[in-house]
Amino acid sequence: MCGIVGYVGSRDGVPIVLEGLQRLEYRGYDSGGIAVAGASALRVHKAKGRIADLKSSLPKRIKGSPAIGHTRWATHGAPTDVNAHPHVDFSERFAVVHNGIIENAPQIKARLEADGITPVSETDTELVAHLIGQAAADHEDPVEALRSALSHVEGAYGLAVVDAQHPDRIMVARLGSPIVLGLGDREMYVASDVGAIVRHTKQVVHLEDGEIALLEADGFTTSTLDARPVQKISERVDFDAEDFDMGEHQHFLRKEIGEQPEAVERTISGRLDERFSTIKLGGLNLHPNELRSFKRVYILGCGSAYYSGEVGAQLIEELARIPATAEAASEFRYRNPVIDPDGLYIAVSQSGETADTLAAVEELTRKGARVLGVVNQVGSAIARATDGGIYIHAGPEVSVASSKSFTSTCVAFAMLAVHLGRIRDLSPADGDRLITALRELPAKIAAVLEQEEKIIEAAGWLSQFENAMFIGRVRGWPIAREAAQKIKEVAYMHAEAYQSAELKHGPLALIDAQMPVVAVVPDDELHEKQRSTLHEIRARSGPILAISHHELPTELAERTIVVPRTEPELEPILLNIPLQLLAYHAAKALDRDIDKPRNLAKSVTVE
Ligand code: AGP
Repeated sequence: MCGIVGYVGSRDGVPIVLEGLQRLEYRGYDSGGIAVAGASALRVHKAKGRIADLKSSLPKRIKGSPAIGHTRWATHGAPTDVNAHPHVDFSERFAVVHNGIIENAPQIKARLEADGITPVSETDTELVAHLIGQAAADHEDPVEALRSALSHVEGAYGLAVVDAQHPDRIMVARLGSPIVLGLGDREMYVASDVGAIVRHTKQVVHLEDGEIALLEADGFTTSTLDARPVQKISERVDFDAEDFDMGEHQHFLRKEIGEQPEAVERTISGRLDERFSTIKLGGLNLHPNELRSFKRVYILGCGSAYYSGEVGAQLIEELARIPATAEAASEFRYRNPVIDPDGLYIAVSQSGETADTLAAVEELTRKGARVLGVVNQVGSAIARATDGGIYIHAGPEVSVASSKSFTSTCVAFAMLAVHLGRIRDLSPADGDRLITALRELPAKIAAVLEQEEKIIEAAGWLSQFENAMFIGRVRGWPIAREAAQKIKEVAYMHAEAYQSAELKHGPLALIDAQMPVVAVVPDDELHEKQRSTLHEIRARSGPILAISHHELPTELAERTIVVPRTEPELEPILLNIPLQLLAYHAAKALDRDIDKPRNLAKSVTVE
């Protein structure tokens, strides 16, 4: 949600930092600021509001580097100029920008006040700046001062610090909040998200939790919080600055929904093995013997990643005949789970940085479980913390609401299910059948996208209501859940998801002419039973929009969006596409802030 950008090199840092902050604007923020370290003095400028407000408040040209900048989304203290980052210590030597939350802020504040230091802002970040200032009295080396200050801090942080006495360097630290270093030609960058710096460099280094880095124009050094040197290897990111632009689109969400045919093409690329009627997944790092020995699969993720895990669990049960379940990672570690020695655990995350999912992975690893990741962001914390896994290669997803990452994750699970199935009992004929269907998916997704006009009309109708119910059964159930979440987050419309047959056990009482029902009704073995549910809804005047494989009679559903057929196991992937467009266009009709829904963040790196 908050963003960090920094630059050290021979160019002026402020324009680079401001441009980087603008690239992070989509994450949502309420104030911004920059600091430049000049010879023995800091220049700090902050402003409530947009980066444009900050820009217009700046002097004409602020020369020099290093520069750091921040977009803040208020946690400790209101969104004001004073609370905006960077924060400066009492000696006015250090300026600090920070993502995350300092959990022991009240104790630190009390200690600082006892030492005669009164913070000027309401933020936890300012306290860190003062701690560094205090530590500098005992440590000549500013990195040691930072290390010492951080030894008093509990919580999560991604930090960047400039020092007026060393105006040629930036110090950074990470614990629970992403920090990436960018390597340029005699210049270095730092950011909380690679999208902020990819225009300047594609060569990056991901900092791990508990690491500190010292950046100078000529390079960087890394060490741990307890002062052990660390060697880092840089990697090349495989996307371009344009991936972070909206292009001709009005919103990133629409752009990313439209990118799904290519995203799925990338997810399957090089992995369909027609020769052996199976799927090649090189990153699993597991021998077929090991893969055959697992007796259960447990999938963990949050939000849409969790729902894609539910799709995945069904695919694995159906195709590999291994019992599989999905669970919200945010709940998992707090119920002190029994770790199954015969279980394969899979963490799902687009960003690879979600704190709850990462914590679940760490808990599992600590207890000796085998954990794989299904991740979009290459080199992210979850990708690094797992034993192996599948990169979904959906490409950068900027919109807070997931779309292409959900779809590509489901596709990755379909491939994993075929792979696990083929080393068990799935026949070569079934392997071939699913490979063919996977190959055809991009074109079929494109065919669904062509129905946008019809979906716009349905979204306009739906947006007139205050509430909506989304229903589905078995394969359609995770899709109903995902669709209800999508419309909540982007259209701010109250929506509930129910298994269709559960309606009569309670929620049917809510059905009347003011409660529209969006029903996922594929032509599957449950179709007739679902029609009975639709009759029950219609008998109570509930308006229905159906997502199906054929047009339903209007006495059952006033509107139907028809999606093309695929193999039954892959059906949920296509059924979800019109529901993404439905949420998008309902949000548009309601004039919502689609790419930056209120109160939400793209990567939830705090608990
Ligand atoms: C859904 O649209 C949201 N983006 C959200 O539910 C998301 O899926 C969740 O926060 C998990 O994020 P991750 O995939 O980056 O771990």
